[in-house]
Amino acid sequence: MDVIEAMNSCRAIRYFTNDPISDEVLDGLIHAATRAPNPGNSQGWDFVIITDTAIKSALSESIAAVIGSVVKGMEDAVGGADNMEPVESRMLGGALNLASTLADVPAIILVCGRAVYPVAAPNEMMVWSALYPAAQNILLAARAQGIGSCFTTFHGMCEPQLRDLLNIPEDVHIAAFIPLGYPDTDKVNFGPLARKPVEDVIHRNGW
Ligand SMILES: Cc1cc2nc3c(=O)[nH]c(=O)nc-3n(C[C@H](O)[C@H](O)[C@H](O)COP(=O)(O)O)c2cc1C
Repeated sequence: MDVIEAMNSCRAIRYFTNDPISDEVLDGLIHAATRAPNPGNSQGWDFVIITDTAIKSALSESIAAVIGSVVKGMEDAVGGADNMEPVESRMLGGALNLASTLADVPAIILVCGRAVYPVAAPNEMMVWSALYPAAQNILLAARAQGIGSCFTTFHGMCEPQLRDLLNIPEDVHIAAFIPLGYPDTDKVNFGPLARKPVEDVIHRNGW
């Protein structure tokens, strides 16, 4: 698939079928991630692939224990669920579904990394600047193969358990928690993205 077509249709997918993703395809997604630009080509990244049902199930339980209050906080911030924008409301519904079905999601990739750049004085900001492009490459490479994904910060809701279950060292930062699977097309599918028109955000030769 043409990369522009992949970008144009790479919706956040939060509903998946149970069809597995092969190790070969998952490894290919990590290959794509590691083609991303990164500071000084320091490549301070690591990727954890989670396919084990017991681990996914434990993470699902940890996230389920807190996601309700996170959603409530977002609703309260706008004066209640009824005041929420429909787009945001749909996003939260999808996120709640994702959290509760995580054990059945075929695979999750954690995009992680250490502060390694600049070598003389490693800087945490450089970690994120390496890991976010890598995460985007995963989303696009998945999309190109008909695999749905969603950039999430679910790790923030289960970080102690994640580190414990997966032996992730304390000095390794986690930037993204990416669930992957073939889209459940009864509920969601790839398609055009709702974004501002480019003319609203372009500044030609000045602001
Ligand atoms: C930094 C970042 C954090 C995000 N965190 C979450 C998340 O925790 N849960 C979730 O369901 N989606 C999350 N998303 C996905 C966005 O909600 C999604 O990209 C946005 O709503 C636009 O949807 P679309 O890409 O389908 O058009 C995140 C995206 C980014 C870039």
